[in-house]
Amino acid sequence: MTSSPVLILDGLSKSFGSVRAADAISLKLFTGEVLALLGENGAGKTTLMNMLFGHYMPDSGKIEIIDGSGHAKPLQLGNPQASIAAGIGMVHQHFTLAENLDALDNIMLGSESFIHLRRNKSQAIRKIQKIMNDSGLVAPMDVAVGRLTVGERQRVEILKALYQDVNILVLDEPTAVLTPQEADKLFENITAMTKNGLSVIFISHKLREVLAFSNRIAVLRHGRKVGEISSKEANERKIARLMVGEETKVFSKKELQVGEPVLEVDNLTISGSSKRESLSNISLSVNKHEILGIAGISGNGQTVLANAISGLVKSSSGKIKIDGKNILTNDPSNIIQAGVGRIPEDRHKDGIVGQMSVAENMIIEDLNDGKVQSRGLLNHEAIMRHCSNLSSKYDVRGPGPNASARLLSGGNIQKLILARVFEASPKLILANQPTRGLDMGAAADVANRLLEARQRGSGVILISEDLDEILSLSDRIMVIYDGKLRMAETHDRETLGLMMAGEAA
Ligand SMILES: Nc1ncnc2c1ncn2[C@@H]1O[C@H](COP(=O)(O)OP(=O)(O)OP(=O)(O)O)[C@@H](O)[C@H]1O
Ligand SMILES: [Mg+2]
Repeated sequence: MTSSPVLILDGLSKSFGSVRAADAISLKLFTGEVLALLGENGAGKTTLMNMLFGHYMPDSGKIEIIDGSGHAKPLQLGNPQASIAAGIGMVHQHFTLAENLDALDNIMLGSESFIHLRRNKSQAIRKIQKIMNDSGLVAPMDVAVGRLTVGERQRVEILKALYQDVNILVLDEPTAVLTPQEADKLFENITAMTKNGLSVIFISHKLREVLAFSNRIAVLRHGRKVGEISSKEANERKIARLMVGEETKVFSKKELQVGEPVLEVDNLTISGSSKRESLSNISLSVNKHEILGIAGISGNGQTVLANAISGLVKSSSGKIKIDGKNILTNDPSNIIQAGVGRIPEDRHKDGIVGQMSVAENMIIEDLNDGKVQSRGLLNHEAIMRHCSNLSSKYDVRGPGPNASARLLSGGNIQKLILARVFEASPKLILANQPTRGLDMGAAADVANRLLEARQRGSGVILISEDLDEILSLSDRIMVIYDGKLRMAETHDRETLGLMMAGEAA
C-alpha cells in the first residue's frame, strides 16, 4: 500500500537552551499511511510535530509537501497558517477547546472569524454533518464542551482538525484519555479515513494499539530518530529495545501483612451539579502496607472521589478519617498536613504551577522542611541542591531547575510530581491515573515507587482505567460505576469488566 510520499521532513533540528530536543530528524510519510511515532517521555515527539505544524521554528532543516501530481513544494516554516493551508491538521496532546463554548463554536473558531461565525452556522453544520458521516466520529454539537466526556471532547478535537480540510492528520497521544473500547473505535474510524487518501501520524505510548493500527513505526530517542520498522515485522520487545536501548524492568510484589487503617471513608455522599460530579454513600478503607485499586471507566465519579479525599470538594454527608482522626472535607492544606500525598489526574492543572520553576515546584508542598529553609527563610542554594538530587533520583529530564515547570514534557512533569510526593513519605498516597501518557520505562518506575511506598508502610489508593495496572498492583480491588463503589470479590478480568460496565457480576 505504501505509495508515494506526501510529506518529507528533512534534517529537522531544534534546541531549547542546552536541550537538543530534535537532532537532524528526517522522516517520510506516505499517502494513505498510518505512521506511529514512538519514544520515551522527552524524546522529542511533540517538538517534531510542533515544527511540522508551524508552532516551533526549526533551527535547521526543511519540510516538503508533495501534491497529487507528485510536485514537491517547500513548506514555509514556523507559520501555523502556512501549515493549515498545506492541509496539515494537528490534535494536541492536551485539550485546547474552550470549555464554555459548544462544540460547533469551537470547531468554527478554528478557521473562521467571530463575525462570520453566526452567519455561516447552517453551512458549517452541514459540513460537520458530512465529516461525521464520512469519519464515523460523532459528538453532540450544541452542548458546552465542559460538559462532554473526555471521549466526546477528543472527537471534537479531531472533527475540528478535519473541518479544515486536512490531508495530513497528526494526533499527539489521542488515546491517553480514552478507554480501550473508545480507542479501538477511534482507530477504526481513522483507518476508514485513510482509504480516502488521508495520511496520519500518531504518537502513542500504548504498544498494543500501535501494533494493531499502524502501518509503520518510527522511533525517537534523545531527539534522534533511531529506527523505522514496518508494523508487521514489529513486536513489543523489538520496539522496547529501540526506544530505551534495553529491556524494561519488571517489578515484583511481595506478600505483606497489612497494618492499621490510614484512611477510612464512611458513607460519603456528594451531590454535584451533574451525575459524574456526584457520589452516593461511598465507604472504603485503606490500611498501611496496602494498595486499594479502584477500577472504572472514566466519568463514573473517580474525579470527585479523588477531589473529596484531597479536600477540594465539600461532602453533603459522611466522614473522612485519616490516621484515625476526622478531617475537614474542604481544606486541602489540612489534608497535606495530615500526610496525604496526591498524584492528581490532571497533572498540568492540579499537579504543578506552570510558571514557577522546576525547583520551586519540587518544594511547593514542603516549605517548612529543614532541607530548604532555616528560621523561616528559604535557602536558594539548598533548594537547587535538593532539586538536582531529586532530578537524578527520579530521572526528571528537561531544561534544568530554573526553567518554568510547564516546559517539561508530559512524562517529566509526572516524574516531578512523583519526586515531591514520595520524598514526603506520606501515610496515604492518592494516585489518580498515575501512568496515563507515560512511556513503558516511566510507567514501570511509577509502579515500583508505589510498591516501595507500600512496603515502607504507606497506604495507597490507585485509581486507574488500566485494568492491567490495577490487577498487577492492587491488594484489594473496588469498582466505581455511576458514583457508587463496590468491592470486587474475585479478581478475574471478565467479572471486573462486567462491573465496570455497570452490570451485576
Ligand atoms: N518550549 C520548550 N522550552 C524548553 N524546553 C522544551 C520546550 N519544549 C520541549 N522542551 C524540551 O524538549 C525535550 C523534548 O520534549 P517533547 O515535548 O518533544 O517530548 P515528547 O517526546 O513529546 O515527550 P512526552 O512523551 O513526555 O510527551 C524535553 O526535554 C522538553 O523538556
Ligand atoms: Mg509529547
